[in-house]
Amino acid sequence: MRVVRTIAEWRSLRAQFGASACVGFVPTMGALHAGHESLIESARRESDIVVLSIFVNPTQFNNPEDLEKYPVTTEQDIALARKHSVDYVLMPESMTELYPDGYRYKVSEIEFSQELCGAHRPGHFDGVLTVVMKLFNLVRPTRAYFGEKDFQQLELIRGMVNSFFMDVKIVACPTVREADGLALSSRNVRLNENARKKSQSFPLALMSAPTVEAARAKLEELGFAVDYVVDKGNRRFGAVSVDGVRLIDNVER
Ligand code: PAF
Repeated sequence: MRVVRTIAEWRSLRAQFGASACVGFVPTMGALHAGHESLIESARRESDIVVLSIFVNPTQFNNPEDLEKYPVTTEQDIALARKHSVDYVLMPESMTELYPDGYRYKVSEIEFSQELCGAHRPGHFDGVLTVVMKLFNLVRPTRAYFGEKDFQQLELIRGMVNSFFMDVKIVACPTVREADGLALSSRNVRLNENARKKSQSFPLALMSAPTVEAARAKLEELGFAVDYVVDKGNRRFGAVSVDGVRLIDNVER
């Protein structure tokens, strides 16, 4: 397994892949957990070459404190990648490696990106789409793997790929949950014991409340700060904070 920290090195390695190589790509911000492992396992099964990227992307954080507190577990992440036989870990070592333009150029979607998380995190999806576009251009994957926990992100990335005629297949992987139902997320490590216990009620309320109003009322009664609970298509989406840690989830209705 090779860990690559500069774009120049990555580009020279990528140029050596054969034209017919099937490349599976798992983009992440690190702090890897079993949800990421399931994406890597799918990529490993379906690809000749597996590339994992780890980059805590500053442009998708609207809140500087959230960026500062984002967990970084580089050593464990590299060990986990090795365990799953990843071929390349692309870890750009600085913001300027990926943003030589200083983020003067960006990718925006102007409808769905303004709803749900976008309504509460201005600029978030511009940052996500821009970094994913950059990574796709660098990695040139055959398939890229995303978790359904970030369903809005997944849909927006699919939309970007279709709109820009990008030659990559987006593979959606089911949300991985703890035994009590909490969706795995890198942010979960920031939950203290009390908040962690409380968090199990979040997916339960989304699943069991008859209406979005009832789900919101239940969550507020339990002490969550609720950003939104919204039914859209065949899914119910929610975002809450508990002791300053933001959780998102979505369930089929
Ligand atoms: O889902 C994530 O971890 C990030 O939003 C992504 C897709 C790696 C872009 O930074």
